[in-house]
Amino acid sequence: MRELRLERTGKRRRAAQTERNPLREGLRLERVPDPHVVVLFGATGDLSHRKVFPALAQLWRTNLLPQDWMLVAVGRRPYTDETFRVEIGRSLAEFNRVPLDREIERQFLDRIVYHRGDFADDGAYDRLAERLDGMDREHGTTGNRLFYLATQSSAFPLIVGQLGRTGLDHEVHGGGWRRIVIEKPFGRDLDSARRLNREVGKVFRESQVYRIDHYLGKETVRNLMVFRFGNGIFEPLWNRRYVDHVQITMAESIGVEERGSFYEETGATRDVVQNHLLQLLTLVAMEPPATFEADALRDEKVKVLRAIPEPTRADAARNVVRGQYGPGWVAAQQVRGYREEPEVDPISETESFVAARFQIDDWRWSGVPFYLRAGKRLPKRATEIAIQFKDVPHRLFRDAAVDPEPNVLAIRIQPDEGILLRFGSKVPGLGLDIRTVTMDFTYGSAFSVDSPDAYETLLLDAMLGDASLFTREDEVEAAWAIATPIVDSWLDGPAPEFPNYAAGTWGPEAAETLIERDGRRWRRI
Ligand code: BG6
Repeated sequence: MRELRLERTGKRRRAAQTERNPLREGLRLERVPDPHVVVLFGATGDLSHRKVFPALAQLWRTNLLPQDWMLVAVGRRPYTDETFRVEIGRSLAEFNRVPLDREIERQFLDRIVYHRGDFADDGAYDRLAERLDGMDREHGTTGNRLFYLATQSSAFPLIVGQLGRTGLDHEVHGGGWRRIVIEKPFGRDLDSARRLNREVGKVFRESQVYRIDHYLGKETVRNLMVFRFGNGIFEPLWNRRYVDHVQITMAESIGVEERGSFYEETGATRDVVQNHLLQLLTLVAMEPPATFEADALRDEKVKVLRAIPEPTRADAARNVVRGQYGPGWVAAQQVRGYREEPEVDPISETESFVAARFQIDDWRWSGVPFYLRAGKRLPKRATEIAIQFKDVPHRLFRDAAVDPEPNVLAIRIQPDEGILLRFGSKVPGLGLDIRTVTMDFTYGSAFSVDSPDAYETLLLDAMLGDASLFTREDEVEAAWAIATPIVDSWLDGPAPEFPNYAAGTWGPEAAETLIERDGRRWRRI
């Protein structure tokens, strides 16, 4: 594969990359964004090093960034352009999905400059504004700016306010778009999310705002929409007449790693249920949008969230189970319990596991439970959506050696990405023996291209002005309206008996009871 990036401009370069770059086939877009500057706040942080810079470098490598592209890395630490580039070079070596050719890496790093400043310091923003104007003149970036907030969430309002004060948010007539990408967590409950939306809304219009939920950028999650709406045979079955229930599992084998103090304030419900799991649920449950435009799609997702009744205290007590891992074994390694993790309170009541049963009160899903579970230090890393279909209306094969099980369609989000369908089949032979067999599609064997990382997809979309895979103001609030009463209901109840599951197991006993009470069980993953 030819990797060397050619220093060309305009159409010639675009034509060349279409002919020569097979990696482009893995990405859906033929368009290259307008010239612009990315202004990355929190550029020295972990997220930037692990995810943002490697994703940008991949976009650069595959010619998906414009030639007139620059990045201003904003941080408090005392780097120069040169020393910062060395740091980024190191992170790229460690975290890149595909290694970079030396020359391509040099071209990429040359486009990064470091801007030192405290987020609260007026002068830092005034200097930033001047620097950006200078870049437009020198590098032809034409006034387009993508602000990216990868800082701690407490700094979001401050930075947004400063961007407003300096007028950096103003779109210039006849050229010069301004957009802002905001990382998670977007608030820690409904009130704080509303406040943050208000602060952002004072400065930016909603169409300029891109709230990240990286699950939406995952290839398998995007494929969910293609699977449902690009095929004719599934949609007629996708409702209460044929579906018994839906299970969504996000299992992680890792613990809280170095993020103990963040996680103590967060817990599994805020960390992954309010966002990633509820997003998966909306994509499974939504009505087909009229078009694939960002607002048409997000309108449908918001309808699903609004059709989930806000949990009362009694609902939360009955339909939500929380857990915290104790010491145990994961992948043949002995691991410590949550309360022994660094920066974690030894009597912490933070949940590292949650299982919940939701209902969606609309015509399509009335009476079909959606079971969600997420946890750390479970036996393996696996995210999966299972659509469990109803049993046959009449059991014809009662005398068979084994009765067929109801059909399951399982969508494996990660790892081992793919989709499988389970159905009953007669075992060859003279008798009537029935077994459940599997029809399995895996990305790995069906396609020879690598999937892009979610951040590559999302960054490129934001640069192109496509907000479909970002959460809208009302959507983020509707999700908090479901998650907040749950976490609030735990504030003044009796403390749970934590830890209540050993690391390396599938969560507390009560998570089994939650689903068994309905005569069902969790799918073995
Ligand atoms: C993040 C959470 O949003 O998602 C982490 O903060 C979690 O706690 C991570 O580990 C999981 O992401 P992925 O892409 O590895 O499934």
